[in-house]
Amino acid sequence: MSEQTQTSSNESTATPTGETFTIRPTTPEDRSWIVSILHRYWASEQIYAKGRVLDASTLPGFAAFRGDTPVGLITYFIEDDSCEIVTHNSMTDSGGIGSCLLAEVRREARNNGCTRLWLMTTNDNTPALRFYQRRDFDLVALHHNSVHDGRQLKRSIPDRGHADIPIRHEIELEYKL
Ligand SMILES: CC(C)(COP(=O)(O)OP(=O)(O)OC[C@H]1O[C@@H](n2cnc3c(N)ncnc32)[C@H](O)[C@@H]1OP(=O)(O)O)[C@@H](O)C(=O)NCCC(=O)NCCS
Repeated sequence: MSEQTQTSSNESTATPTGETFTIRPTTPEDRSWIVSILHRYWASEQIYAKGRVLDASTLPGFAAFRGDTPVGLITYFIEDDSCEIVTHNSMTDSGGIGSCLLAEVRREARNNGCTRLWLMTTNDNTPALRFYQRRDFDLVALHHNSVHDGRQLKRSIPDRGHADIPIRHEIELEYKL
């Protein structure tokens, strides 16, 4: 478990001095609270992206804690030389937790020989588009109307998202490792 307290470069954990939380890899013993967080933020542990569904509760990940309380979770899926961020949540916005979790996955991806870190988000999720582009992710594809197909696989994808914007398209973001 590592304690995160520093801000440095663009690849930094962007954690304000004085804010403390711990980050560690998730384990099978974490599964029950992970499932409840995935249900709270993603309506299910089944996560749709790019034409297929993954059970994020079974994927490797990192969790942030304040004391014993989970305050952030990131899950990822490594396939060949690519690492996909499948879910990424911070329960305390703008405290540096999201950046620290991203840094952990980026390090893990590099350690596993990945050359690409990527994720999908939806057209409504302008905060996420801001967050990742501020961290040097590039927009590499627009999957036009793909959420229509996604709803065949995951019925609980809502019609509308951030700012009541209709959720229609997936946007693929990539960071070259
Ligand atoms: C995306 C997400 C994980 C980011 O988590 P977060 O904990 O808010 O991220 P951070 O705190 O590291 O960074 C957010 C901003 O707060 C800033 N920040 C960090 N600590 C701060 C502080 N003490 N005071 C003010 N701002 C601060 C960061 O600099 C950053 O700003 P920037 O993007 O303009 O550079 C979070 O917003 C989230 O859970 N989103 C919903 C789920 C989602 O859409 N996930 C992505 C797709 S899977």
